[in-house]
Amino acid sequence: MPAPAYLAQHQTRFLAELQDWLRIPSVSADPKFHADVLRAADYLKARLEEAGAQRVELCPTAGNPIVYGEYFVGDDRPTVLVYGHYDVQPADPYELWTSPPFEPVIKDGKIYARGACDDKGQVYMHVKALEMLLRDESGSGVPCNLKFMFEGEEEIGSNNLEIFVRENRAKIKADVILISDTGMLANDVPSLEVGLRGLSYHEVEVAGPNRDLHSGLYGGAVANPINALCAMIASLHDAHGRVAIPGFYDNVQELSADERAEMALAPFSEAEFKQSIGLPATAGEAGYSTPERTGIRPTLDVNGIWGGYTGEGAKTVIPSQAFAKISMRLVPHQTSAEISALFQKHLVSIAPAGVTVRVRPHHGGEPVVTPTDSAAYRAAVRAMETTFGKRPVPTRGGGSIPIVAMFKAELGLDTVLLGFGLDSDAIHSPNEHYGVFNFLKGIETIPEFLREYAAATRE
Ligand code: BES
Ligand code: MN
Ligand code: MN
Repeated sequence: MPAPAYLAQHQTRFLAELQDWLRIPSVSADPKFHADVLRAADYLKARLEEAGAQRVELCPTAGNPIVYGEYFVGDDRPTVLVYGHYDVQPADPYELWTSPPFEPVIKDGKIYARGACDDKGQVYMHVKALEMLLRDESGSGVPCNLKFMFEGEEEIGSNNLEIFVRENRAKIKADVILISDTGMLANDVPSLEVGLRGLSYHEVEVAGPNRDLHSGLYGGAVANPINALCAMIASLHDAHGRVAIPGFYDNVQELSADERAEMALAPFSEAEFKQSIGLPATAGEAGYSTPERTGIRPTLDVNGIWGGYTGEGAKTVIPSQAFAKISMRLVPHQTSAEISALFQKHLVSIAPAGVTVRVRPHHGGEPVVTPTDSAAYRAAVRAMETTFGKRPVPTRGGGSIPIVAMFKAELGLDTVLLGFGLDSDAIHSPNEHYGVFNFLKGIETIPEFLREYAAATRE
């Protein structure tokens, strides 16, 4: 199917508008960007209004506002609630960017900027899809009722969105949730993520002597908190790459041989995977492929570790404290509460004599698997088949969007993960980018999804 002429005619403006938005550094993690976060919300609200959305508003929360809007067609139509986030990850380290993170440039068919793919670029596809549905005279109008809910705290745990959802059940009532905040396998291998992992994140503090000590006077006679922390961390995996916390795998849903065989049908190149991240070998839990290790298996990773002397030169010291940030990705049917409790108990239990271990939990999230036998999923398959000319394959994503499980638990709603990113887009990393192809393909595919979904529910 040829792309709509409207898209070809207006794509330069669409890209310019997205770049203007990307210029606003909406970093939610760092309070010094607070005013920019608010400006990014205002910008989105204005563009959503301009596109033709109704009842557009900024809904205040205890944190960053939620940008909300609607487009109502008729009571006989299904309602799709579109969710996304306008906040972005910090851009550090800035010196590793080839062009500044908040001065977007288009190079080799890709938009380079923090948030280009995660998630401003993907949110903006929905805004422009609405504009196209309303303005393109060769089209057939908006097929479904639409509700838009874009938050500014996804990258810091969505705490206030959770409250907003609980307090606004009637307002956000819908039949299905549509999210573009995930990826696909390749531009010529369309795919739909049908699962997301959960998350259990902790900060660990190991405390030793009451002050930093001279390592000559005291070394050999006291437990060194960094040595202790490293030994503890090293013991968290066994020789087979499995997480060595008692009970960690108790509730893990094991896939059948058939399900694993079906997963293995999705095209994947181990060689390209290694090459793309500059590694001679992959590593992980024995007995599982790379897509299985990132999709259907739980993990434990140290995300940061610090303590002691890290300045210029040498300082002979035994530090009084050591710290680490440790997170676990969870799969069905693990829960973040259960795993957090096991982690905390285990870490305290393996502390060697002479140190005290404290574990502080950060935000968590539950894993989800989205149905593939629903009208909405089938609509997404048909839409991608139309715009890519190829049937998309289902994949299990390794990332986390904790509100997806929350939408299911609180509203009983399933989600369709209609994402157009690529693993190589470097989200959360320096030089994040988003393909112009992917951005335009998204704008083209979203209306197809809405048409297919409306048609399926009319049958
Ligand atoms: N959009 C990502 C998650 C994602 C990316 C899922 C690609 C699947 C494919 C989201 O913004 C994100 O970064 N989530 C965080 C968790 C959140 C609680 C900070 C993550 O996965 O680390
Ligand atoms: Mn995201
Ligand atoms: Mn993210």
